[in-house]
Amino acid sequence: REIVYRDQVASTNELATELAYQGASEGTLVVADQQTGGRGRRGRAWFSPPGKGVWMSLILRPKLSPAYASQLTLVAAIALSRAFSSLTGQQAGIKWPNDIFFGSKKCCGILTEMHADHDRIHHIVLGIGINVNMESSEFPEELRDIAVSLRIVKGESLVRSKVIQSVLTYLEPLYQQYVREGGFSSLREEWKLESITIGRNVRAVTPRGEIEGTAVDIDEAGALCVMTESGEIVRIHSAEILFN
Ligand code: BTN
Repeated sequence: REIVYRDQVASTNELATELAYQGASEGTLVVADQQTGGRGRRGRAWFSPPGKGVWMSLILRPKLSPAYASQLTLVAAIALSRAFSSLTGQQAGIKWPNDIFFGSKKCCGILTEMHADHDRIHHIVLGIGINVNMESSEFPEELRDIAVSLRIVKGESLVRSKVIQSVLTYLEPLYQQYVREGGFSSLREEWKLESITIGRNVRAVTPRGEIEGTAVDIDEAGALCVMTESGEIVRIHSAEILFN
């Protein structure tokens, strides 16, 4: 595969988007040692210091309708959770939709950006940020209680290229399956095995208000099913999930 490495970029997602429009092939990997404008979901910044993390974006061109693009994030989360458990010897887990946690702390986030024309995906940029070798004290104060690195979990530092390799090894077959089956539904059970969300009491903050209840399932489309106190099942397609 083609690998584009930079010591420093604003955002690997941004560079990958440019390269995708210039025709970069499926599987092209953009990696940077440091991001000066790393982007998180919901317009947040993503802490991306040099030497400490894996900041990378994959260019993918699945021949699917744009409606299935968001499910790719769920597929990637399965691969990441498996890779991190195997790299550290500790159990990682997915917080719906696509954060990877150890215990109550986040070690990795995914930012998927789709570019479509007409009814076809032109390309998807799958951006992955992994906290690899930070010590607790190296996180900014506001992240210290909610963020963790693979190193903290494992008790020793990791070689970043090995982390990338492991993630790609787990992702490849899952991605093939997602493309072959035309979506996430056949991977649902695999996702549930990695989930730390199902069974928990959650508060889902959506643009249209808050829903409280127990997360009971993920549906074929990847929506989180929450059972409220009245026993009604609400399907949540996009929300910030807080554990109660
Ligand atoms: C989140 O949890 O909010 C998503 C974080 C995604 C961060 C990664 S780092 C590589 C890629 N480039 C970016 O600017 N963001 C993603």
